[in-house]
Order: sequence, then structure tokens, then C-alpha cells
Amino acid sequence: MLKEIKIGNLRLPHNIFLAPLAGITNLPFRLICRSRGASLAFTEMVSVNGLVRDGAKTRALLKRTADDYPLGIQLFGSSPDDLAEAARMVEGDGELIDINMGCPVKKVVGTGAGSALLRDLKQVAAIIRATRRATCLPLTVKIRSGWHSGEDVFLEAGKIAESEGCDAITLHPRSRNLMFGGHADWDKIRELKEFLSIPVIGSGDLFSGNDCIRMLRETACDGIMIARGALGAPWIFSDALDVARALEPFTPSKSELASTIRTHFGMYVAHSGEAIAVREMKKHIGWYAKGFAGASKIRSEAGAAASFDDIIRLIDKIELRETHGGESPDEKGITDDAAGENRNRLFCDSH
Ligand SMILES: Cc1cc2nc3c(=O)[nH]c(=O)nc-3n(C[C@H](O)[C@H](O)[C@H](O)COP(=O)(O)O)c2cc1C
Repeated sequence: MLKEIKIGNLRLPHNIFLAPLAGITNLPFRLICRSRGASLAFTEMVSVNGLVRDGAKTRALLKRTADDYPLGIQLFGSSPDDLAEAARMVEGDGELIDINMGCPVKKVVGTGAGSALLRDLKQVAAIIRATRRATCLPLTVKIRSGWHSGEDVFLEAGKIAESEGCDAITLHPRSRNLMFGGHADWDKIRELKEFLSIPVIGSGDLFSGNDCIRMLRETACDGIMIARGALGAPWIFSDALDVARALEPFTPSKSELASTIRTHFGMYVAHSGEAIAVREMKKHIGWYAKGFAGASKIRSEAGAAASFDDIIRLIDKIELRETHGGESPDEKGITDDAAGENRNRLFCDSH
């Protein structure tokens, strides 16, 4: 269940991680999830072609700070030589290298990378062998159950990963053709765990602290990775830790929610600048609002937000909904002065 875990020479205090999410697990999001308990976080998937050929833009995905630790760098590509070269290039940028063998999107599988590799296990072996030779960092792979439902290869792929020197493997037990449909079949995580000696990390359908602990218990896997469940709910990590310790899971009040969003926004502004922070927080506010009364209104206001102050006003509205007994904050009139005060609070919260 909840336990210390060792992946290669990387020792982690517990086994609840933030999964790689393209377009999402950038530095600010990783920091907010770490602040709520994630013991390991991953970059967005990083193209080895981009790293090897055009450099600067792709390298921006590796941006980190000292407290963004430990960091798993996820690489995707289809050429063993390029993956090996990329692994050498990023060795100083993280504590672990993961190879993406699960991404189902056309743009990635069209290049023979991601889950397309599950149709060519010889290539899987060649990629892991070359990358293993290239780096001393802990090396892991993340796979789906197979390319097509009914044509599972996760046991064979797992055995190859183990014999070629991977230090752990993550399984998202859906085939590529399912994309995100149906349910993740956790029985396959249990099967893989029983089949291998290296640590097995489970991924799929973890939307609450209870789900996390249930996956650990039902599959006996060595660790779990939370993905969609962390969107708008970074406290899912502390929830899982609380459930494991038989404590009540945390249900944030609106002011706690607002404070988390402020902290997240503050991290974004500090690390990515105001323009990117405003653009990106719009989608995060949509996720933070899910499940709350008036969520669709907040979401459409978030869509229309164009400035730092618009975002601050929106966060205030979320908070005032509770403080003023659910009245529309518009009626209470949030002034520019209030937004200005919150600009100061934002930076106090995030540092
Ligand atoms: C928007 C989005 C982006 C993702 N990006 C990646 C990625 O870059 N690399 C990867 O290995 N998996 C990626 N995944 C898959 C997740 O890491 C995870 O395995 C999957 O979502 C199942 O977990 P969940 O049900 O808890 O979301 C992505 C999933 C989503 C929804």
C-alpha cells in the first residue's frame, strides 16, 4: 500500500506520483501538485526529435527549479539512437528517464512513437537497450495494455522492459484504440505485478484519494500515478495520503479552493510570465470550478478573461460565493481596488 519506494537508485518517501500530462505538467503545475504531496512528478512528454534537432524550444519543457525535485523526464520517439542521444542530453535535467510507449494520439503514433511501439516489440527492446546503455539514471517505460483491445502485449512488453534493464514500468491498462473510453482494467496491473520483479506503477481512473488506495490494495502494485484526477484538484495527493492513514479526506472550502488557485496562479506568473499565466489559468480555473454551483458561469467567464486582473477577480468571485452565502459576487461589487489587494496576496501566497 502506501510505502517508500526505490526506483533504481532513486528513493522516494512514498509511492503516489503525478503522471506525465502533455500540455499540463509544466513547472507551475508540478509545483502545486508537489505542494499537496506528490512524491515524484514528470515533465510533459518531450520529443527526442525536438531535442536532438531543434533544441531550444523543446528544452523549455525541461525548465525546473530546485524544489521541483525529484523530476522524471519523459521522452518520446521511435529511433533507438535518437532516444539514447536524447537520454544523454537530458541527464543533468532530472532524476529519472521515462520512455513513452503509451501515447495514443495520431500525431505521435504516426511517427512510430508512443503506443505504436506496442506493435513492434523488437523495437521496444532495441529502444530500451540503447537508452539503458546511454544513461545511468533510473530508467522506466510507460505503456498501455496493447494497440488493440483483445491483443494485449503488456506482459511481453513488461518482460522485455525488465530484461533490458528498466528499473520500473508503468501500465495504463487500456488499449490504444480505447483512447480514454471504457474503464482502465486494473486486473491487468495486478497481472503485470505478479509477472515481474521490477516495480510496477499503476495508472488509470484515479479520481479520488479512495481510488488511489483502492488501486494500491486491489492490484498490489508498487506505486500509482495520478493524471486527470489532479486537474483542478491537486489535493488528491494529500487526500490519498490521508485515506491511507485512515484520516478524513480533505474537502476544500471555497476560500481554500481560492487560495490554492491563487497559489497556482502566482507560481505561473513567477515562472512563465503574466501573459502565459493568464492564458493557461483559464483552463485550470475551468477544472477547479468543476462540481461547484455556478461552475459553467465561472468557466465561461474564465474563457473571456484577458488580463491578470480578470483572473484575480474571478478567483475572488469563487471565494466570495461562500463568504456571501452563495450570492452572486457581482452584486457585492468586486472593485479594482480589491483586485489590486489580491495581487499582493497572490504573491504572498505563492512564495
Ligand atoms: C491531457 C492528457 C495528456 C496526457 N499526456 C501524457 C503524456 O505526455 N505522457 C504519458 O505517458 N501519458 C500521458 N497521458 C496519460 C496519463 O499519464 C494517464 O496514464 C492516463 O490519463 C490515465 O490516467 P487517469 O485515468 O488517472 O487520467 C495523458 C493523458 C491526458 C488526459
